Amino acid sequence: MQILLTGGTGFIGAALIPALLAGGHEVIVLSRRAHTDRSRCRYIQSLDEVSTQTRLGAVINLAGASLAARRWSADYKREIVDSRLDTTRQLLALFRRLEHCPRTLLSASAVGYYGHHGDDCLSESATVDPGFAQALCSDWESLARQAESLGVRVCLLRLGVVLDSGGGALEEMAKSFHFGVASWLGSGRQWLSWVHRQDVVRACEFLLEREALQGPFNITSPRPVTGRGLATALQAHFRTFIRAGVPAPVMRLLVGEMADELLLNGQRVVPERLQAAGFEFNYADIDSALAAIYCDHTTLRTRSSSG
Ligand SMILES: NC(=O)c1ccc[n+]([C@@H]2O[C@H](COP(=O)([O-])OP(=O)(O)OC[C@H]3O[C@@H](n4cnc5c(N)ncnc54)[C@H](OP(=O)(O)O)[C@@H]3O)[C@@H](O)[C@H]2O)c1
Repeated sequence: MQILLTGGTGFIGAALIPALLAGGHEVIVLSRRAHTDRSRCRYIQSLDEVSTQTRLGAVINLAGASLAARRWSADYKREIVDSRLDTTRQLLALFRRLEHCPRTLLSASAVGYYGHHGDDCLSESATVDPGFAQALCSDWESLARQAESLGVRVCLLRLGVVLDSGGGALEEMAKSFHFGVASWLGSGRQWLSWVHRQDVVRACEFLLEREALQGPFNITSPRPVTGRGLATALQAHFRTFIRAGVPAPVMRLLVGEMADELLLNGQRVVPERLQAAGFEFNYADIDSALAAIYCDHTTLRTRSSSG
């Protein structure tokens, strides 16, 4: 089928596009930039380039300014929100204009939807605790769900922290380990709901194929870890000499509001609806995910040994 992807040039899209193409789909990517390599996908810079006769089988909506790229000034917070809501609004306008509405919309969200809940296990029906990321996800999801009134099947991807090599959060989280320091943020007791990027791709394919499924889906491994748990798992792949937490006040000084919203607090999320639908994770525990990411090399990568 023909699939339109927003934000397809990002970390998830980099793995998703090859998988969709390998699955025999045609992919149209909405990007703010012009792309010269058009051999595999069609890149568009505006949804106006999609003709009203185009038959899209599905749309996957990933576009949005990164939450972790910069300190959250008032302007950048507006960009984080507007980049997601405006793109989703433009998709709704496209759906209204098309002669044939797409059958399916997979629209990204995040486990930040739930806010902060300490050690509680959170399935898709959990209550929410208000905050900036929580309001962002909630508004983004509500907007995406408006497509339901047009007859579109909407699946909301409540993504955990996506792990893989070549970018994403893991590169940042593993930085100190390259210098021999196994670190965590704050108390290290906060939960991190993570997912291997290949399982994100497989979950998208699964949701595209299962036409009876709709609504919110936690795209997180069934076994979240704490900050300290992640540090211990990472230590199997790096030669480290000390273990230490970065104190919460230092994090607040370094990154401001983002520290409490994203880094010092977390969510212990479980993929109840995906698993109930029969989805099996290739990487259910953090050790198997990191082993795959670091290619089964053990005890390596200190700056001295790699340089
Ligand atoms: N990766 C994770 O750990 C994670 C976790 C939870 C939720 N998510 C959500 O999943 C989505 C995809 O994640 P990702 O890691 O692939 O994101 P990413 O690498 O940051 O890429 C997102 C894409 O969005 C587009 N974009 C960036 N700023 C934009 C702006 N101001 N206006 C419009 N488009 C903009 C960019 O495409 P162009 O430059 O081509 O326009 C970019 O390639 C994001 O919305 C993210 O919030 C990701």
